[in-house]
Amino acid sequence: MSSLFQPFSLKDVTLRNRIVVPPMCQYQARDGVANDWHQVHYAGLARGGASLVIVEATGVAPEGRISPACLGLWNDTQAEALVPIVQAIEKAGSVPGIQIGHAGRKASANVPWEGDDHIAADDPRGWEPISPSALAFGANLPRVPREMTLDDIARVKADFVAAAQRARDAGFRWLELHFAHGYLGQSFFSDHANQRTDAYGGSFENRIRFLLETLAAVREVWPENLPLTARFGVLEYDGRDEETLVESIELARRFKAGGLDLLSVSVGFSTTQASIPWGEPAFLGPIAQRVRSEASLPVSVAWNMGQPSVAAQVLAADQADLVQIGKGHLADPHWTYAAAKTLGEAHPSQWLPPSYEYWLRRY
Ligand SMILES: Cc1cc2nc3c(=O)[nH]c(=O)nc-3n(C[C@H](O)[C@H](O)[C@H](O)COP(=O)(O)O)c2cc1C
Repeated sequence: MSSLFQPFSLKDVTLRNRIVVPPMCQYQARDGVANDWHQVHYAGLARGGASLVIVEATGVAPEGRISPACLGLWNDTQAEALVPIVQAIEKAGSVPGIQIGHAGRKASANVPWEGDDHIAADDPRGWEPISPSALAFGANLPRVPREMTLDDIARVKADFVAAAQRARDAGFRWLELHFAHGYLGQSFFSDHANQRTDAYGGSFENRIRFLLETLAAVREVWPENLPLTARFGVLEYDGRDEETLVESIELARRFKAGGLDLLSVSVGFSTTQASIPWGEPAFLGPIAQRVRSEASLPVSVAWNMGQPSVAAQVLAADQADLVQIGKGHLADPHWTYAAAKTLGEAHPSQWLPPSYEYWLRRY
């Protein structure tokens, strides 16, 4: 049997296989509240057989959303709307996870199919983004953010804690802190975004301070028996990759010491000047393997592993503990079943609900 289909345990959570639906923004919320779109979307993905369904990047504060249509978790109405989604994922035999984050200088953007760019400063749909320094990302996101004060930093950490508590109370059993993709957490780490001269900028110790403090504060409220994870871009493909990777691996060790249970290894996306090897299948696999072995921390990995044989190979080569299939799940919510058939599993429909499984077991 391919290791894709072997269970994986972390803390008190056992995943039925190694296939994860990574967080994927749906841009369908109003006032940060989930609705029937999210209900159908996440239930369908869980019924498809993946072992863990991570709800999309969910803003810990109104200004921390990527777009006005993103989910939020800064009030009880938003938390209550997520409860039926949690229950549907559980009922399908999958584990409900959620990614909480703050979009930093990339916030206040139009949804991808309406421009994917910053909302104009004078448009009431938008808001002023905040970031470690008053430096714009550039390209489609040219708006110069306001440099965060120490009070802002303390408030956003408290927002992460409050969102984690709401996620816990809504029944999520897997929490992912979004410290990747050029959003706020990644921006503190990266000198592409962070030019501060106080305790939160400059040296490695200073650039990781926000991340470690946020983790420590969330660790206090997130149950000890449930996985607490983070997504982080361990390199930028900006020509300084070895230097960044060495720092990222040291950060992963600090995360582990601070109570992190797994790192979702990703790309930084902090600069427009990056050469990402998009055409290469599973291009992050060897990078994830390095983080996994040098930091002795379980990892998940994504990007370009939608071919079942590629995903299986990432696990067979011990590059990761879990593989995340993003667009493959948008194309086919039953990706796990399809992959099991392709790879010749004896009982490929075993993860589907009885209403599907009974019929498909013969085909
Ligand atoms: C529609 C869409 C929305 C996404 N939203 C998020 C998100 O909310 N948080 C995140 O960390 N990554 C997000 N991503 C990145 C995915 O989690 C994943 O890493 C990416 O799609 C690469 O995997 P793939 O090659 O299997 O699609 C998104 C990707 C897509 C396609």
